[in-house]
Order: sequence, then structure tokens, then C-alpha cells
Amino acid sequence: MLSEQQNLNQTMLNAEQLGSLKEVIGTYSPLQLAWASGYLAAKSEGSSVVALTTENTPKASSTLTILYGSQTGNAKGVAKSLADQATSQGLTVDLKSMGEFKPKSIKNVSHLLIVASTNGEGEAPDDAITLHEFLSSKKAPKLESLQYSVLALGDTSYEFFCQTGKDFDEYLSKLGAKQIAPRVDCDVDYEDAAAAWSEEIISKTIDLVGNNEEKSNVVAMPTTGAVSQYTKQNPYSAELSLSQKITGRDSGKDVRHIEIDLGDSGITYQAGDALGVWFENDAELVVELISELNLLANDEITLANEKLSLKNALTSKLEITQTSVNFISFWAELSQDKALLKIAADKNEAREFAANHQVVDVIKSAPAKVEAQDFADSLRKITPRLYSIASSQLEVEEEVHLTVGLVEYDLDGQVRAGGASSFLGKRLEEGGNVKVFIEHNDNFRLPSDGNTPAIMIGPGTGIAPFRAFLQEREASEAEGDNWLFFGDQTFTQDFLYQLELQGYMKSGLLTNLDLAFSRDQAQKIYVQDRLREKSADVYAWLERGAHLYICGDMSRMAKDVETALIDIIAEQGKKTNEQAQQYLKDLRNAKRYQKDVY
Ligand SMILES: Cc1cc2nc3c(=O)[nH]c(=O)nc-3n(C[C@H](O)[C@H](O)[C@H](O)COP(=O)(O)OP(=O)(O)OC[C@H]3O[C@@H](n4cnc5c(N)ncnc54)[C@H](O)[C@@H]3O)c2cc1C
Ligand SMILES: Cc1cc2nc3c(=O)[nH]c(=O)nc-3n(C[C@H](O)[C@H](O)[C@H](O)COP(=O)(O)O)c2cc1C
Repeated sequence: MLSEQQNLNQTMLNAEQLGSLKEVIGTYSPLQLAWASGYLAAKSEGSSVVALTTENTPKASSTLTILYGSQTGNAKGVAKSLADQATSQGLTVDLKSMGEFKPKSIKNVSHLLIVASTNGEGEAPDDAITLHEFLSSKKAPKLESLQYSVLALGDTSYEFFCQTGKDFDEYLSKLGAKQIAPRVDCDVDYEDAAAAWSEEIISKTIDLVGNNEEKSNVVAMPTTGAVSQYTKQNPYSAELSLSQKITGRDSGKDVRHIEIDLGDSGITYQAGDALGVWFENDAELVVELISELNLLANDEITLANEKLSLKNALTSKLEITQTSVNFISFWAELSQDKALLKIAADKNEAREFAANHQVVDVIKSAPAKVEAQDFADSLRKITPRLYSIASSQLEVEEEVHLTVGLVEYDLDGQVRAGGASSFLGKRLEEGGNVKVFIEHNDNFRLPSDGNTPAIMIGPGTGIAPFRAFLQEREASEAEGDNWLFFGDQTFTQDFLYQLELQGYMKSGLLTNLDLAFSRDQAQKIYVQDRLREKSADVYAWLERGAHLYICGDMSRMAKDVETALIDIIAEQGKKTNEQAQQYLKDLRNAKRYQKDVY
């Protein structure tokens, strides 16, 4: 162990270092000092993209600004790697989350690359909302001297595919900005398309900057080890230490409390982060699929220059539990099945059919002959699933806990299951290994001041991050009031973490616990109804600075809760509906209203 003095010695400069620092900065102008302090701060945070520029520092007009709007980290990852590439090729890069970018300063930007995902139902991710709104508003300036390109991330199974990227492209174009290259819209397996776009756009930007002015003299900063070595592409193989069903025997749902041991990986996370989980498909489903296709498990195929058997590809490289709209079209063409062709011809119908049928069920509904390679090429690459972390490291140290609802449903008498949830909850045995990584989420964080009250609304598996919040607040002895709204179907079967939550009520960590069990009485009661019942108190908490959180089902719960909140604010604050919406928007902009919905 290092002594305190040794620690201090390592963190401070010695007399000689201090002397040379003073000598150097003594020659700086105030502006140069400001620049140097920013440079050193970025270096200490391990930024890999800060360019060390010399006196030939290019003028602002040759700086490449890269902005990302990202909810679950994909766009952020693409933007970071784009920035690294651009820097290594001699461009001066300014990489920022849209949330950290002052919208008005866009008029000072000359070359802009946007990487934006779409969230909600065609909505902008949280960190992109302000810029998105600004660019479509009357306040947006003319941007005739701006050159830009957009990479849009999305998912073809959503109605509003890549909507946010499309919006940015449209808004910038309307403001007079010129495209460096056309927008590219990416599906869930975005890696190849993103890499191709990045390469093209960097080469075009270099041409532009080079054409306009002297090429910048830039030395790229090396990447430091500040970030965990384990990432989506390089996950950590962790051990499943506990998998426990936490719904009752007669529950309509199967929810598991999962504990994963991060061992000596050194992985750290914060309450509010999610765990990315890679999984293997069910061996029985793979066998069924190969048999329906009349192919052989050992048929050899090539994926990304790697030769492997069809069985291995279907087990760990390709999505077979989620069906894409593109696959429906591919199979309809191949089979020439009339019913499937009709479905494929209507985008909405195809989307719905894909959401309710796994790949094997599509094939069963319209048998056809296919080559192993063509079949593999028609499927999307497997993508990890995210789970909100249900623990605080202050409490569980090298463990990470999850609350996983098993996706299971009946299709024509056959039980079908979700890929990752059934892997975690059923196929993986305790002691077995699972590849994981942390997806940081700065858009879902406890108040930095432990005295600030928090209102948490998390029915079903939406309880997960609030278990982490409560553990964190208990361990850090935060004194702020905590109010939890939890709900599910029945008290006896579905009260997740009942003993823990009741214990928190007893200890006083939870100031209020409001429960809504929808099926315990004739009339359905949901969390939004409990919120309405407590209107006056909810508004009073907000007025005294409470932070407000929602986690769980996006399609219905989050919307109904938001409507209830607007009604509560309007009624209690004597505001119009519009003013109440603005109140909630202001809370969101102040990072006091955060959502983790899926
Ligand atoms: C940020 C974030 C946090 C999350 N946190 C959690 C969490 O804490 N806990 C949790 O449980 N989940 C959480 N999720 C959801 C999780 O990531 C997975 O989406 C979920 O577990 C399903 O994945 P799967 O691989 O099991 O199913 P998939 O293989 O992805 O899905 C199987 C397919 O089945 C279809 N399907 C589903 N139900 C039916 C039905 N009734 N009838 C017909 N078809 C159906 C679906 O359309 C889907 O295409 C979170 C998601 C995000 C984005
Ligand atoms: C809750 C949720 C809602 C989504 N809504 C849409 C959508 O409306 N349209 C779309 O094209 N993609 C949608 N997606 C897909 C994401 O845009 C896609 O997964 C993307 O890669 C995420 O990038 P990010 O991690 O940077 O946010 C949604 C994803 C989630 C989890």
C-alpha cells in the first residue's frame, strides 16, 4: 500500500518539474494559457482524440467537428473510432456529444459529421434533443458555409427507421449546408456500413480541407488506458454466479435475478449503466432451423472472411430469434409464397409479421430451397442485448446484478424464446461463462448532491436501476428522500425484491413506496394511477428539486406515466398543458428528468 505522502508525491509535480512548467507557461499569453489548460485537462481524462497542434494549427475552418447523439452507446462508439481515424490521418478533430455542444455555436463550424441514433418511436436520443429542436426552430441560423454528412443508426424493425439521422440531414440541408457525402442509414448490424462511411468521409474531408488551405500539422495523442480494456468488441468472459427466479410459481412472468462475477477484470460501472451481454442461440432451435432448411450442420460458409460451419454460425454469429423485414422480403422472393409476398409488399405488415415470427417460423410458413451461404447472408449479425444494472459497486464490489424478464411466447403450440434472456435465464448454468461489457449511460444518473430527493418510477424489470440507485444511496449515506413507484401484475407473485424494498422502508432509506398491482382487483391499477393519487406530493417534491426517473416498458408505460406527469404538473401548478409540457422539458434539460426505457 502506498502511504499518503507517497500518493501525494505521485500526484504533484516535484520542484524541478514545477520550475520548468513555470518557465514554459511564463511565456504564454492569457489565450494560450486557456488553450493549454484545456489541453492538459483533456489529456488527464485520457482523451484519445485531442490533437496536439503546433504553430501551424489550422484555422477553425479546417477543424472537423464530430457530434454524436447516442442513447445506448453505439453512435458514441462509431463517432469515437471515426475521430481516432481522422486524427491519425492528420485532421484536427473536435469530438463531442450533442449534449455538450452549444447549438448556437454551429454557425462557427465549417466541417461537421453527425453520427446519430434514433430512440423511442422515431425520437432523438436524450443527448441530441436540444440540438435537434434548435435546428428545426426559427432560431436556427443560415448555414451556407457548412459542409456536413450524417451517419444514421437505427433498426428496420421500427416504423420510423433512422428518423433522427434523416431529420438532421433535412434540417441542415434546409439551412443551406452542403453534403460532403450522402447520408448513410444503418440497420442494427451497423459496423460494416459505418466503417465504409467513415473511410469515405475522412478521405473526402481531407480533400476538402487540403483544397481550401494548407494541410494541418497535427500529431495525434496516443490513447491512454483510462477506459476499460473490455468493450463491446472485446468483451470480458465473466462467470454467472447466481440465477434465481424471483417471480412466484403462479406468476404469468418469469423474471430472474442474475448475479455475474466480474472477477479480477477491473471493470467498473456506475448506478444507471447497463451491462451488454453476448449470447449463444439455443442448440435445439439451431437443429430445428437446419432441418427445416434441408441443410447440413457441417455445411461450410464464410462470414467476414472467416470460414465456419453453418451450425456454428447460427449458434453464435447470426440472429435467429429476431427476424428482420429484409429477411421477410428475401424469403418471400425465394419461396414465391403468395401469402408471404403479400406481407412483404406492405412495410407495416412485414414489420408486424417479423416481430411475431422467428426465422424458423417464417421458413415453416413458406418452405423453399436455399444455399447455406445465401441463407447466412440473409440474416443479421448477432448483437448483444443490454440490461440495466441492478446493483451498486459500493455494495457488491466485483459483482454485477441484473433483473431479466424471460421473453417467452407460444406460436402455434410451439414455445419460442428470446435469444439473450433465455440464454441468461435458462441455458447458462451457474459457474458458466458469459461475455459482457459495460455500456455507460450518463443520461441516467443519481443526483450528484446526495441530499436531493429522487422519484423513481420502475414497474416490472424497470425496478433494476432503482435497486442500484437505492444500494448506492444507502452505501454512500446519501440523505436525500427516495420515493419508489413499483408495479406488476400481482402482489403475491410479482413483487420483485419485496423483502429488500420493505427493508428499505423500515430503515427509512425509502421515504415512500407506492405499489400498483394491476390484477389484484377488478379494476386495473398501474403506476400512473398511483402517481395521480399522489399528485400534490409529487408536485411538491418536484418543486423542492426532486430528480425524476422512469425505467421499463417504452411502448405503453413510459408514455402513460409522462401523460400523468403532465396532468399532475398542470393541475397542481395551475398551468396550461403547454406550460406543463415546458416544465417537464425544463426538468429534462436540467437533467432532472431521465428515462431508461426499452
Ligand atoms: C437500455 C436497455 C436496458 C434494458 N434493460 C433490461 C432489463 O433490465 N431487464 C430486461 O429484462 N430487459 C431489459 N432490456 C431489454 C433487453 O435488452 C432485451 O431486449 C430483452 O431481454 C429481449 O431480448 P432477447 O434476446 O431475450 O429476445 P430477442 O431474441 O431479442 O427477441 C425475440 C423476438 O421475439 C419477439 N417476441 C417477443 N414477444 C413476443 C410475443 N409475445 N409473441 C410473438 N413474438 C414475440 C420479438 O419481436 C423479438 O423479435 C433493456 C433494453 C435496453 C435497450
Ligand atoms: C428503446 C429503443 C427505441 C428505438 N427506436 C428506434 C426507432 O424509432 N427507429 C429506429 O430506426 N431505431 C430505433 N432504435 C434502434 C437504435 O437506434 C439502434 O439500436 C441504434 O444502434 C442505437 O444506437 P445508440 O446506442 O447510439 O443509441 C431503438 C432502440 C431502442 C433501444
